[in-house]
Amino acid sequence: MKALVLSGGSGTRLRPFSYSMPKQLIPIANKPVLEHVLENIRDLGVTEVGIIVGDRAAQISAALGDGSRLGLRLTYIPQEQPLGLAHCVTIAREFLGDDDFVMYLGDNMLPDGVKEIAREFAQNRPAAQIVVHKVADPRAFGVAELDTEGRVERLVEKPEQPISDLALIGVYFFTPAIHEAVGAIAPSARGELEITDAIQWLVASAAEVTASVYDGYWKDTGRADDVLDCNRKLLEGLVHSVRGEVDEDSVLIGPVVVEEGARVTGSRIVGPAVIGAGSLVEYSHIGPNTSIGRNCVLSHTHLDSSIALDGATVTEVRGLHGSLIGRMASIGPADVGTAHHRLVVGDHTRIEVAA
Ligand code: G1P
Repeated sequence: MKALVLSGGSGTRLRPFSYSMPKQLIPIANKPVLEHVLENIRDLGVTEVGIIVGDRAAQISAALGDGSRLGLRLTYIPQEQPLGLAHCVTIAREFLGDDDFVMYLGDNMLPDGVKEIAREFAQNRPAAQIVVHKVADPRAFGVAELDTEGRVERLVEKPEQPISDLALIGVYFFTPAIHEAVGAIAPSARGELEITDAIQWLVASAAEVTASVYDGYWKDTGRADDVLDCNRKLLEGLVHSVRGEVDEDSVLIGPVVVEEGARVTGSRIVGPAVIGAGSLVEYSHIGPNTSIGRNCVLSHTHLDSSIALDGATVTEVRGLHGSLIGRMASIGPADVGTAHHRLVVGDHTRIEVAA
């Protein structure tokens, strides 16, 4: 079995971050989302992975290289325009050959894994096997209606009147039967070739399409709040490890990772929390549920339930909570004697000030 990972897409819901980086490289527990996805695929015993990349291809290949670091063989497949998930299957035709494959959206996190579902697919080999999850509001997703035996009766992309509460969550298993289906469908109202429509085409042509319910934790990391929640979830499994320096005036409570070259001075770190390589934390309270990237400086600061990306600096700001702080961003005090706040804020940035 091969894997096809979709990492095109513009990530408009994750602005301003997506202006300068692909959303799939946002770090969760100090590792890009896409790397978590690839590890999940490797856990299925799949090593041959095609990655669909759009205009952020260079950053993605710089981060992942040929995949050998992760024990994978990566093939980058450029998509010139985001024409839909089914279009991705079309342009990957040569890479996929006549193999079965798992298709995985590069910004969807299923940390509890899909091993059992993959095993079922390999055993029964239906034309397609989808992975679904109960959601409160299915209107934002592809939605599946099942019969009592878990066979798919109907699929609809973003229905106004949902037919069930089972959403497609970005992982699909296919035999080569999908290739005829993606060739047979027309673009949807949003102008994209929808994989949901291709699978519905299989259902309509009496091919076997099954569904497996994934009950674990799932997040489409499309928005800042989802990224923070996912960070909290992944940090739950953190194993305490200190490779950097922690001075005697500091306390670490619960699982805390201090990476190489990081320094913690006069601070209190409440786990789960990660302090990335080369970062300095001084006279601060950090955590819980917080990831600090590489080469950050946090000084006289209180920060919890947050992510700071590489090179961020926060000085003398207390009470920061639920924050996502971008690369090289700087938050700090005004010049002495100034009574104002001063903001230099990028496009689509959000700042919430406590009353
Ligand atoms: C896509 C799929 C949709 C699926 C969702 C999961 O939606 O079209 O069927 O439920 O991913 O994240 P999109 O993110 O393109 O709106």
